[in-house]
Amino acid sequence: MNTGFTAIPVSERVYWVGAIDWNVREFHGYETGRGTTYNAFLILDEKITLIDTVKAPFFAEMKARIASVIDPAKIDYIVSNHAEPDHSGALPLAIREFQPERTFCSVLGEKNLKAYYGAELPLTPVKTGDSLSLGKSTLSFVETKMLHWPDSMVSYLDTEKILFSQDAFGMHLAGSQLWADEYPEWLLAAEARKYFANILLHLSPKVLALLDELPKLQLDIRIIAPDHGPLWRQHPEWIVQLYRECAEQPMKPRALVFYATMWGSTDQLARMIGDGIRSQGVPVELCSLGVNDRSAIVTKVLESGLVVVGSPTMNNQLYPSVADVMTYLKGLRPQHHLGGAFGSYGWSGEAPKLLQAELGAMGFELPLDPISVKYMPNAEDRERAFDFGVKLAQELLKKTAKA
Ligand code: FEO
Repeated sequence: MNTGFTAIPVSERVYWVGAIDWNVREFHGYETGRGTTYNAFLILDEKITLIDTVKAPFFAEMKARIASVIDPAKIDYIVSNHAEPDHSGALPLAIREFQPERTFCSVLGEKNLKAYYGAELPLTPVKTGDSLSLGKSTLSFVETKMLHWPDSMVSYLDTEKILFSQDAFGMHLAGSQLWADEYPEWLLAAEARKYFANILLHLSPKVLALLDELPKLQLDIRIIAPDHGPLWRQHPEWIVQLYRECAEQPMKPRALVFYATMWGSTDQLARMIGDGIRSQGVPVELCSLGVNDRSAIVTKVLESGLVVVGSPTMNNQLYPSVADVMTYLKGLRPQHHLGGAFGSYGWSGEAPKLLQAELGAMGFELPLDPISVKYMPNAEDRERAFDFGVKLAQELLKKTAKA
């Protein structure tokens, strides 16, 4: 029966049999404005093998794509590279319906998948250095703990020279085209940076360690096939280099001012600070949290050596939208930034001090005391805010000139 879903060839023996989630707009707190894909791959060899599955509601789509090439009941092996439910949600269904001879995952994958789906799930753990003959081709496994979860591993198929990299080198981008070279480079760069900032930023040291270790394995990688977004065939080193730059997090000569405003005072301060920064020739972007979500902010933090945060004081606390972004940012552990804090208040005025303390605890260098204004900024306050921006920009220029 033709269901309309077809498998897409990746190489002589490999097909893409994943699902496209055109409409997902929220991925554990990350705004996925362009949707995503859950990539799964079918290897046709003596042992027919499925690499990863899809989010549970997309099981029928994956099954139909497999069925466009072979009877799914002929699948001999399933490999689960990552236990997060966007890739393993359909695994219990796939095991039940396809009845594979074996299902492979990492040692921690076995623990995590059983915790999710029940101890009876039949799994065979593998570790770095293990390999599996599929007939003409061999699949090798490399554990990549904490990239993205403790259970993560990648698999390499020798005949096709494909690295199935699960979350690594992916992005949330739904599209009808399979290959990265079929998309504009600006779009790939924007979505890959956003993905890195929101998913992997706090794991930067592990990313750098993996990038240093991978060449030592002497794998001849022609295609990188991640579990989200397009696949890399032309110049896969482009995405590898982008990952390295994102993970190294050099201090960049750009500034971000993000803030919330209650009655417009903090907005006025933000504009003055922004103009002060701009007056020193430093590119600056102002982002009100009224119209920018946390995942956009974190992506811009990655690109900005100077991050200035503003909040009104509300009931002695940070404004709720600022507290949300600060909590998210804290977990993602950005490195190598200068910071500043500001805000307005009516009664007590704790917010700028709270922001300063939080930024300091996150490792931001804070060359100036925070500034605050009661009710509306007057001419003197506006001048003070402009000067605050000037001094922070000058510090940034000093720091980035030395780098
Ligand atoms: Fe795409 Fe960590 O899951």
